[in-house]
Amino acid sequence: MKLFIQGVAIAFGLGLAMASTTARADGTVEVLHWWTSGGEAKAVGELKKSFETQGGTWIDSPIAGGGGDAAMTALRARVVAGNPPTAVQLKGPGIQEWAKEGVLNNVNDVATKEGWDAVLPPVLAGIMKYEGKYVAAPVNIHRVDWFWANPAVLAKAGITGMPTTWDEFNADAEKLKAAGITPLAHGGQPWQDATVFETVVLGVGGADFYRKALVDLDQKALTSDTMVKSFDELRKLRSYVDPNFSGRDWNLATAMVMNGQAGFQIMGDWAKGEFLAAGKKPGVDFVCAPTPGKGFILNSDSFTFFKVSGQERLKGQTVLASLIMSPAFQETFNLAKGSIPARTDVPLDKFDSCALKSHEDLLAAVKDNSLVPSMAHEMAVSRSVRGEFLDLVTNFFNSDMSSADAVKALAKAVKRAQQP
Ligand code: GAL
Repeated sequence: MKLFIQGVAIAFGLGLAMASTTARADGTVEVLHWWTSGGEAKAVGELKKSFETQGGTWIDSPIAGGGGDAAMTALRARVVAGNPPTAVQLKGPGIQEWAKEGVLNNVNDVATKEGWDAVLPPVLAGIMKYEGKYVAAPVNIHRVDWFWANPAVLAKAGITGMPTTWDEFNADAEKLKAAGITPLAHGGQPWQDATVFETVVLGVGGADFYRKALVDLDQKALTSDTMVKSFDELRKLRSYVDPNFSGRDWNLATAMVMNGQAGFQIMGDWAKGEFLAAGKKPGVDFVCAPTPGKGFILNSDSFTFFKVSGQERLKGQTVLASLIMSPAFQETFNLAKGSIPARTDVPLDKFDSCALKSHEDLLAAVKDNSLVPSMAHEMAVSRSVRGEFLDLVTNFFNSDMSSADAVKALAKAVKRAQQP
């Protein structure tokens, strides 16, 4: 494999040779990521800035497309061509899938020297390691199950507080509708449909049910009445989106809440990054509240290190790994991104009330075992199983398929994707 990579590196030698003559002493990284919205770009900009401040050369490879599906396709093409980026925004079981293909480098020397095991939640540390060695470094903890709302718009419709059950949400949505306001800002893209779906599954079924259905892929749970009820609620939510939802980017849906066109959005806390980048204040211009249901849907971004050769790039990986895990960087980055630090020892005094709520609920969820990994955001199942979920949920959202038919089709598709 090594020889192959080196051979291909020679084939792609022009770029490498140029980089090595111009690169500075502290390494070069080419970073593939999908952080292109306002808040995301600001956050990744912090990483670039810090890396360059340390004397490194940063080659930016952004692949637009929320949720990262386009980036993952681009990554596959790069690896197949034998020309992987130095570091890739990649997470969850995907890290293990790539590691098994033998295309990752480990940064275990840095991790051991800096004692990562002692400062990371064990669940995250486990995801970052392959055969006991760190092949990735986590930047944050995002929570998926959030409502984002415009308080002035809610007030206009006579809504006084954030909904705590799906029935309450439906009642609020009706009020918004009656006031001529789009109740739910949504972008009709498969990953966004799946984000809303998993949030509803947690709310309708609770954390144990979520785990059985979306993580363990238990056929009984997938075909249960609870799953039927989840699709029923998703059908309701479909009636609360505006006619132009199809294909809309998630950050444009966030903008609808921001500018008063819509009441709510259901989205992970990267949406907060958008509000903040636009100068909006939490609790004043926008409010956050967990969606109904006890639990916490976890999504953590990380950078994974691919097998590259050449001193410059290897050095770049080491420097980047150390930088990502530094407490100062974890603070700056997450203040912009809307998430909270992956490290458990970073002070949160500069963080806002949404971040503090996330942190408090995360600790509670760990304690009572209601922390669940996001299916939509690649934390729970293989890419092929996730693909089946996304296809079915999107299909349901864009047709008049019944909930009973949806659960049958879903269970069948998941089973098919699990076959070796
Ligand atoms: C998620 C990712 C977040 C956010 C979002 C929208 O999968 O973890 O960091 O950027 O996609 O692009």
